[in-house]
Amino acid sequence: RAYQHLLVDLSDRVAIIRLNRPEVLNALNLALVDELVDTLERLDRDDAVRCIVLTGNERAFAAGADIMEMAEAGVVEMKRRNQFRVWDRIRWITKPIIAAVNGYALGGGCELAMACDLIIAGENARFGQPEVNLGVMPGAGGTQRLTRLVGKARALEILLTGDPITAEEAYRIGLVNRVVPTEACLDEALRLARRIAEKPPMAVRLIKEAVYKALDTTLQDGMEYERNCFYLLFATEDKAEGMRAFLEKRRPSFKGR
Ligand code: HXC
Repeated sequence: RAYQHLLVDLSDRVAIIRLNRPEVLNALNLALVDELVDTLERLDRDDAVRCIVLTGNERAFAAGADIMEMAEAGVVEMKRRNQFRVWDRIRWITKPIIAAVNGYALGGGCELAMACDLIIAGENARFGQPEVNLGVMPGAGGTQRLTRLVGKARALEILLTGDPITAEEAYRIGLVNRVVPTEACLDEALRLARRIAEKPPMAVRLIKEAVYKALDTTLQDGMEYERNCFYLLFATEDKAEGMRAFLEKRRPSFKGR
């Protein structure tokens, strides 16, 4: 399969997607985002894939939406493009997506990392929402996801100053899962992805669904949702296998059924 703006690999049931516009620090033009989201959906349907790692290169995860594409656009053109319709589809990917972030994750790049489920940062990673410096603001979740992730005070400081924060700071405020040496970032993400890939896929899927439900609903409704997911898993072969393997003191082998 030929990709224009991505490199895609599969190993050990983990798919790796590399953003591949290095000459512009992986600026996210419309074609790249279309291709990325189509690819995520295709991998989501592929039984050979259990977890997805999304990465850039050592200099940039992504330095934001492509400013060249927006510079001349007016409001009618932006409404006509309706680009966030594509971004919104990331929310419905059922498999875990791990972002391995080195270098710049700015603007839409930071929003893309936050749209992933887990973030492993290299020491040189820089996260920020510099849209304010361009006379605009985030459009792909920067005010919403960042606020939920790090709280009002920190979100507003990042959004209003436009100043990037370091990987260490991003870790301290709970934006990323861990910080590792830059050259180890992708390996660390892959290691984590392979561990998740060994888990029963249906349980993984419902855990992800229930956690996103938690961000979106009341505690009582969320608890009910969780309970229904919990009961649902008792209909799977993997539940029978998981519990039998425990009692027989052996490693389970999960099939995703
Ligand atoms: C288009 C970009 C780009 C971007 C970098 N480039 N970011 N092109 N869109 N977002 C291009 C540069 O123009 C340059 O091209 C090349 O990449 C290398 O970048 P330099 O600026 O020369 O590198 P450096 O001096 O190291 O500075 C790195 C940087 C800076 C600090 C990351 O590039 C920068 O500030 N970029 C813009 C970051 C930003 O504002 N992002 C938010 C965009 S708005 P040439 O041809 O000169 O070599 C946004 C809205 C989101 O994301 C809405 C939802 C999608």
